[in-house]
Amino acid sequence: MNPSLGKFILASTPSSIIHPSPTMNTGLPLNTGAEIPALGLGTWQSAPGEVKNAVSHAISAGYKHIDCAFCYQNEDEVGEGLAEAFKSGTKREGLFITTKLWCTFHTRVEEGLDLSLKALGLDYVDLYLMHWPIPMNPKGNHPLFPKLADGSRDLDHSITHIDTWKSMEKLLSTGKVKAIGVANYSVKYLEDLLPHATVVPAVNQIENHPYLPQQEIVDFCRAKGIHITAYSPFGSTGSPMMKEEGVVEVAQKHGVEPGTVLLSYHIARGSSVLAKSVTPARIDANRKLITLDDSDMNKLESISKTKGFTRFVYPAFGVKLGFPDKP
Ligand SMILES: NC(=O)c1ccc[n+]([C@@H]2O[C@H](COP(=O)([O-])OP(=O)(O)OC[C@H]3O[C@@H](n4cnc5c(N)ncnc54)[C@H](OP(=O)(O)O)[C@@H]3O)[C@@H](O)[C@H]2O)c1
Repeated sequence: MNPSLGKFILASTPSSIIHPSPTMNTGLPLNTGAEIPALGLGTWQSAPGEVKNAVSHAISAGYKHIDCAFCYQNEDEVGEGLAEAFKSGTKREGLFITTKLWCTFHTRVEEGLDLSLKALGLDYVDLYLMHWPIPMNPKGNHPLFPKLADGSRDLDHSITHIDTWKSMEKLLSTGKVKAIGVANYSVKYLEDLLPHATVVPAVNQIENHPYLPQQEIVDFCRAKGIHITAYSPFGSTGSPMMKEEGVVEVAQKHGVEPGTVLLSYHIARGSSVLAKSVTPARIDANRKLITLDDSDMNKLESISKTKGFTRFVYPAFGVKLGFPDKP
């Protein structure tokens, strides 16, 4: 698809999009002209010894989209799962693989990518994301999470996320990435970045679920032609969102599991969604998506309006990382 047409379609999408019959591999348009499959398998906290099987099981069950990151420290085993799938006949070009640049690699962007490609056993990824807009000291006291003597986060003030993005843009000509994007970007960070960007990010991957709709970011990204991928749709570890009353009510109305509603919510908003599981039966169950109507979406949207916002990942992760919330 012509990129400007893609931008037009994204910019003119209503806040709730009714896909006639969404499936896990419904292709959602990116501003590059490519499509991202609606559902991806998450691999954060997928332990060694479990993630290889999770990846190969998911691909044999029909998943085409796998979400990885250098920081998850399991890309070698994800790569083993991919290798198993290729051995069984899966074609590389039939998959959509995302990975992410970690914060201590902002001054070594291509090196970070090469480490991920090597671990994954791939020549290219379909999408390479800047994991956080925060450069951290590459020579600190820890390769991933460096701290200063006073215990605060050891940030690298010699460059900004804009410099990092410029390095990410250069990757496009190497053939090692099909698209580049960002993750955990607020509107403030995007407003800081976009005037300097030659390439508009294809994706912003953010925590997103009925307790954290992030409507302002979703609307901003839509207007700029940036696709949203939702992470932690079940509320992350232990899947707390599955028990939320409003979600259970919509699930009962449709005779489906709460997980189906939590995943389908994002498809109705025009976003793709990442569901993590290392449990084969759950990986299978998470494939099911349904069409949610306006009354379902209103019900789900009312949850945060009455109960307030909850971030499941940021308090445990972002704040602990000591990241500033604006540039
Ligand atoms: N860009 C970022 O900064 C960022 C941050 C966080 C996450 N992500 C990505 O998004 C992915 C998904 O988010 P997440 O891992 O935080 O959490 P999530 O997908 O919301 O939830 C994962 C939890 O739900 C459980 N679960 C999965 N399917 C289930 C089902 N059908 N029934 C009951 N429980 C179920 C999993 O258990 P089992 O595994 O034990 O089955 C696990 O405890 C990540 O894996 C990662 O790829 C990106």
